[in-house]
Amino acid sequence: MSQLAAGSAARAAVPGPREPDRMGRDWVGVLAEVPLFRSLSRRHLKHVASVARARRYGAGSSIVRAGDPGSGFYVLIDGAVRVIPPTGRPRRLQAGDFFGEMALLDDSPRSASVVADGEVLTMTISRSAFSKLLKHEPSLAHELLRTLAARLRTAEKSD
Ligand code: CMP
Repeated sequence: MSQLAAGSAARAAVPGPREPDRMGRDWVGVLAEVPLFRSLSRRHLKHVASVARARRYGAGSSIVRAGDPGSGFYVLIDGAVRVIPPTGRPRRLQAGDFFGEMALLDDSPRSASVVADGEVLTMTISRSAFSKLLKHEPSLAHELLRTLAARLRTAEKSD
């Protein structure tokens, strides 16, 4: 997916990185387009929106720094980011993709830096809300694992 249809319109309405905006039910339509959330009902999407914050980043902003402790999980709503690991090839993620799950899942430092490749809009979920969501939404955990498996295969191929 290169763009979420409602994502770029949403980007203009959201404040900058220092003023995260609580996402409400208006966001349900945007979240419904995100592959990670495709198996969730509208009721569950509303719940996700209620625990998430929208955040806008300028081109070149550092969103996540390798080695930092992980405090949140990110879904890219609009724009693209570069994932830059300490060693190995950088990767590009685009609207509909997610990042920041690894440090939360294994309670270890961030594995890579993530930098905005142009203007970016993310939705962020805190560590505790992420952990509760995964416990209560097995289908979400399943989608997350599918993507992690695919990323591992890609990383192994390019070694
Ligand atoms: P985390 O380690 O919390 O912070 C950096 C994030 O970059 C990481 O979670 C993943 O979401 C993402 N990331 C790291 N390595 C890769 C990769 N090989 N492909 C895609 N995304 C990655």
